[in-house]
Amino acid sequence: MYPHPTPLTARRNGPLTGRARVPGDKSISIRALILGALTVGKTRVSGMLEGEDALNTAKALQALGAGIERTGEREWLIHGVGVGGFAQPAAALDFGNSGTGCRLALGAVAGCPITATFDGDASLRSRPMRRVLDPLERIGARTLASADGRLPLTLKGALDPMPIVFEPPVPSAQLKSATLLAGLSAPGETVVIETEATRDHTEKMLAHFGADVRVEPFGSAGRRITLTGQPELTPRPIAVPADPSSAAFPLVAALLVPGSDVILHGVMMNPLRGGMIATLVEMGAAIERLEERHEGGEDVADLRVRCGALRGIEVPGARAPSMIDEYPVLAVAAAFAEGTTVMRGLKELRVKESDRLAATAALLRVNGVAADIEGDDLIVHGKTRAAGGGVVATHMDHRIAMAAMVLGLASERPVQIDDGTFIATSFPGFVELMRGLGADLS
Ligand code: S3P
Repeated sequence: MYPHPTPLTARRNGPLTGRARVPGDKSISIRALILGALTVGKTRVSGMLEGEDALNTAKALQALGAGIERTGEREWLIHGVGVGGFAQPAAALDFGNSGTGCRLALGAVAGCPITATFDGDASLRSRPMRRVLDPLERIGARTLASADGRLPLTLKGALDPMPIVFEPPVPSAQLKSATLLAGLSAPGETVVIETEATRDHTEKMLAHFGADVRVEPFGSAGRRITLTGQPELTPRPIAVPADPSSAAFPLVAALLVPGSDVILHGVMMNPLRGGMIATLVEMGAAIERLEERHEGGEDVADLRVRCGALRGIEVPGARAPSMIDEYPVLAVAAAFAEGTTVMRGLKELRVKESDRLAATAALLRVNGVAADIEGDDLIVHGKTRAAGGGVVATHMDHRIAMAAMVLGLASERPVQIDDGTFIATSFPGFVELMRGLGADLS
């Protein structure tokens, strides 16, 4: 599926200027595909992310019997089979690099009377699935084969799904979503209690399709989500906003490259995804929200970003769920700040597409930036500059690849990555978009 490694080099050039729109949100695109497949009828999706993670999820859903067609650029039509309506797939489902696609589909399959084998690439095969299987087994699914709670694994869906009350042991929107999707097939109320709120796209989209979902505050920072099972989900169109986690790359590049002034269009401003912008503003970044509006059920804005001085700060661990995917590029911003930035509570980064805590520290060090890992904290010693000149190992991780390219645009010497292929999992067209703003990537 992935051809040979394609190295990529970023080097300093003039300022970044102009306007751009990054691709559709990965979390929402994958949910639109999976939830659309669980409605009865046709769901139109516009602004879909056409990256590998979404495409692999779409293929898996087709193998489960849903009709999925591309009707135009970023326009997709999903013919749903209804809650519990998936058919037994003829072959293993291959999710490629997509943890979200795989874990959410595990949840959806757990509520159907079918058996399916889930697989993925070497990165996905190394990631923990046991945490998702635990609630799904309580609902009534059975894990038939799995090496050590990892892929490839075979799941037998529940014949009589049971509603459960589940408190995820780690803050994870994937875990919450998998449980809710399995709970769709159960009679009565499935409850997920999260002590730290995570991205709420699944809850919002379920409500959008007519499910009865109640969201209440829980403790100081958590939520209690109650879903009434066995709804008939009714298709309604979905407009996918631009992905704030993808916007983070051109955004940080514009903050760091002298003279830059960039506008990023239609970026989702969901507060549960807002930790990165809040943190950068605290560091002194000039980020203006223009044309704040509501689109497709989410707050969106155009972001104007200008280069300016940053200062090191302490980023509390409680903020991690709202910016979990943004730490690699935040660490790059921290390298160019004045003073030390301490990012606390990053344990979950160790089980992303790569061990992102180690990979982020390594990407900085190989480019002359001092970084330490202490326990689960990442500490970056900002010196307002980076030497660059390093070759970064990306470990099949799109965000490590893009963070390294952003570093190379601002460092004294060029930065190379061993492989740019995986960028296409979440940000197809990254190189072209960055070049359009004036970046030198080759
Ligand atoms: C996602 C949740 C996060 C995030 C991932 C997308 C989602 O993972 O890292 O890129 O769409 O639910 P966890 O739920 O494991 O933290």
